[in-house]
Amino acid sequence: SKNIVVAIDGYSSCGKSTLAKALAKRLHFIYIDSGAMYRSVTLFFLRNKINLKDQESIKNALNDIHLDFQTTESQTLITLNGEDVSKEIRQMPVADMVSTVSAIKDVRIEMVRQQQRMGRTGNIVMDGRDIGTVVFPDADLKLFMTADPHIRAERRYNELISKGEKVNIDEIFENLAKRDHQDTTREESPLIQAEDAVVLDNSYIDEAQQLDFAMVYIKP
Ligand code: C5P
Repeated sequence: SKNIVVAIDGYSSCGKSTLAKALAKRLHFIYIDSGAMYRSVTLFFLRNKINLKDQESIKNALNDIHLDFQTTESQTLITLNGEDVSKEIRQMPVADMVSTVSAIKDVRIEMVRQQQRMGRTGNIVMDGRDIGTVVFPDADLKLFMTADPHIRAERRYNELISKGEKVNIDEIFENLAKRDHQDTTREESPLIQAEDAVVLDNSYIDEAQQLDFAMVYIKP
């Protein structure tokens, strides 16, 4: 039988990955964080000082990148050529560059190809910006998440602070606003709500309520 795909898209720091993880756990599906893939490519480009105007270098770099997800009891790790980069991809240098890198056509072509391949390995929940529109247009359930930008900045701030990062709330607010702008206005697969997506605004509801909301749309 066909694999079941749940696609979750939406703005930055809307709690997409929190809901995606909870759904995957409840349903015993694989969870794939597509943003972590774009972040890891960005980290590789930064480390190797790839010239973003040089298509040949970009293509070569993409060939040199091998990404893998490793799920343990408590968390999902992403590895870049065997190195666990889960922590480093959340830091500001990557956050500042990721929307620029992910607007590059060749980067998207390669990531979408890998994501579609992962979709053939089993039932999955994948979150990102173009999952319901481009990666899996035939997804069984598409959720489009949104929340008040100030609440989103506050949540991201608390998350990073709790991980011991030194961050400033204004800087986070600016970063979210800038990424949302870049992600919704780019030429290549911009962030847009799929016609058949269910909208979930989670500004004022908790994680358990979001899970209940989503589960209603999943046929047993
Ligand atoms: O989901 P997350 O906020 O970690 O994603 C980081 C960035 O990666 C986004 O701001 C966006 O620029 C890019 N992205 C994308 N397409 C996806 C997932 C993420 O362009 N499917």
